[in-house]
Amino acid sequence: MCGIVGYIGSKNAKEILISGLKRLEYRGYDSAGVALTSDNLDVVKAVGKIVNLEEKINGFKKEAKIGIAHTRWATHGAPTEINAHPHMSCDKKIAVVHNGIIENYADLKEKLQRKGYKFSSETDTEVLAHLIEENFKGDLLKAVMDSLSVVEGTYGLAVIHADQKDKIVVARNGSPLVIGVGKGENFIASDVAAILSYTDKVIYLADKEVALLTLKDVNIFDLTSRPLKKEISKIDWDLEAIEKGGYDHFMLKEIMDQPQAIKNGLAGRASVKDGNVHLGGINITAKEFASVRRIVITACGTSWHAGLIGEFLLEKLAGIPTEVEYASEFRYRNPIIDPGTLLIAISQSGETADTLAALREAKQKGAKTLGIINVVGSTIAREVDGGMYIHAGPEIGVASTKAFTCQVSSLIMLSVYLGRMRNLSMSEASNVLQELLLAPEKIDEILQQAQKIKKIAAKYCKYSDFLYLGRNLSYPVALEGALKLKEISYIHAEGYPAAEMKHGPIALIDPDFPSVFIIPKNNLYEKTISNIEEIKARSGRVLAIAEEGDNFIQNLADDVIYIPKSHEVVSPILSTIPLQLLSYFIAIMKGCDVDKPRNLAKSVTVE
Ligand code: G6P
Repeated sequence: MCGIVGYIGSKNAKEILISGLKRLEYRGYDSAGVALTSDNLDVVKAVGKIVNLEEKINGFKKEAKIGIAHTRWATHGAPTEINAHPHMSCDKKIAVVHNGIIENYADLKEKLQRKGYKFSSETDTEVLAHLIEENFKGDLLKAVMDSLSVVEGTYGLAVIHADQKDKIVVARNGSPLVIGVGKGENFIASDVAAILSYTDKVIYLADKEVALLTLKDVNIFDLTSRPLKKEISKIDWDLEAIEKGGYDHFMLKEIMDQPQAIKNGLAGRASVKDGNVHLGGINITAKEFASVRRIVITACGTSWHAGLIGEFLLEKLAGIPTEVEYASEFRYRNPIIDPGTLLIAISQSGETADTLAALREAKQKGAKTLGIINVVGSTIAREVDGGMYIHAGPEIGVASTKAFTCQVSSLIMLSVYLGRMRNLSMSEASNVLQELLLAPEKIDEILQQAQKIKKIAAKYCKYSDFLYLGRNLSYPVALEGALKLKEISYIHAEGYPAAEMKHGPIALIDPDFPSVFIIPKNNLYEKTISNIEEIKARSGRVLAIAEEGDNFIQNLADDVIYIPKSHEVVSPILSTIPLQLLSYFIAIMKGCDVDKPRNLAKSVTVE
């Protein structure tokens, strides 16, 4: 996601910042910028690759010894130069770089605008620059602390001031920030990879901590200005390991990222108190929504599986008839679309050619369109009438993991949002949102079972065919589980509705053809148990993904992975996690390149 680098010392800050930004390129970004203080404060920004910024900054002849820099991965506002960081105060004396999301930015922005502050970007970050300007009375540290006292949300941030050339102020709440300690120089970064070639001594800032960096010192405080004593740690990882957050592969890192990724998507949106969801970019009025008679979801691959879950959710929570179409099929039929049709395009990349073509077809026929997209400013995101970003952060592993669970989380929110405009009661909506907010914690519990899942993977990696079975909301999870396994381990796997299995696939079952059942304790539990019995009667091996407290399943299945109990609409998110880990471990055991599986592409921009 976004990256931060900062330097204060006696060397040429420009070079250190650019080399630091390059180290963060692997995280994905769409624009970048630097702020340097010499005789005054200069900001240089560029859209696209760091080399674009480097070319622009080469013309900058002053030698600055202090600076902050940023790579932006857009969350609020398109990836443009204006929206790129650093953001400046109106007096052009303060520059701010920020990772995270300021949840109350709209409220703060309105107050600051009333006081005459002029905003130039669409970002949430810009409020910080103006807020700090409003609070600045000669002491930058105090101005930052006073500003943070009214800020809600997450931040890793760094601030410099044209008149205070001997300091950088940084703060953290929910977004990583590390301080690199040198001799007569100090560094900051959102990720140690950016500064490791300069120093291996670091201080990790904790949430709600603020630091004042000068040439010689690093002083750390809590938000009430109380000084804190912090330990200096020594980094002994190599750079490649750091880029993957210490994990062996991006895919594993992204699986492990899921609790935080889902939290990012929920931040400032799901409100249990009023049983509602606050969405800023929908751009379709309540009156227009009232005329929606039918929803068509279109997508490809993993996003299509999220769409199938969306179909259940939208019908259950919003009461709107919904169908799901592969984008590649939708575009070549003569789909019946009228002004009462709402089309939802789901795409991680926002660039998939078939999904884009399906969207254009629907628009041309008069449908209102929404996007559920990860990459901000992508083509689909720009062409839909409105939508929601899933805020999963960049997904580098080709096989989609965190984007899928964040898509499902977004679809739950959207279903509640639309449901509340129709017949969904406030108490049911609050209940669903409450359960959704608990999902990150429950995912964490599942991730802690990684070693157990690895042992199960070792038992199953010898098989060359698998059936994945589930009913109702667990059916798309079965499809996604099977897709994950085949994508990265090249093992044949099929997903099927558990009951439909007896109309064909059951002919395949023998002791060497295992079945993975997703069987949460819901109204279809007994019926799914019968389906397991059918497999067992044919000497099939069964691995069950079941809910904690379900002791009965142990007598029937050969192996069980337990997930925490949850509301039925949240259960697809939870039951997907062990299936991702299972595929990952099996693929590793087979020696496959999990991050770049053969023949597959992360973003398919051809038909
Ligand atoms: C490719 C990727 C899949 C992805 C699909 C749709 O096939 O390998 O992981 O699910 O495209 O991509 P999108 O970016 O539209 O979600």
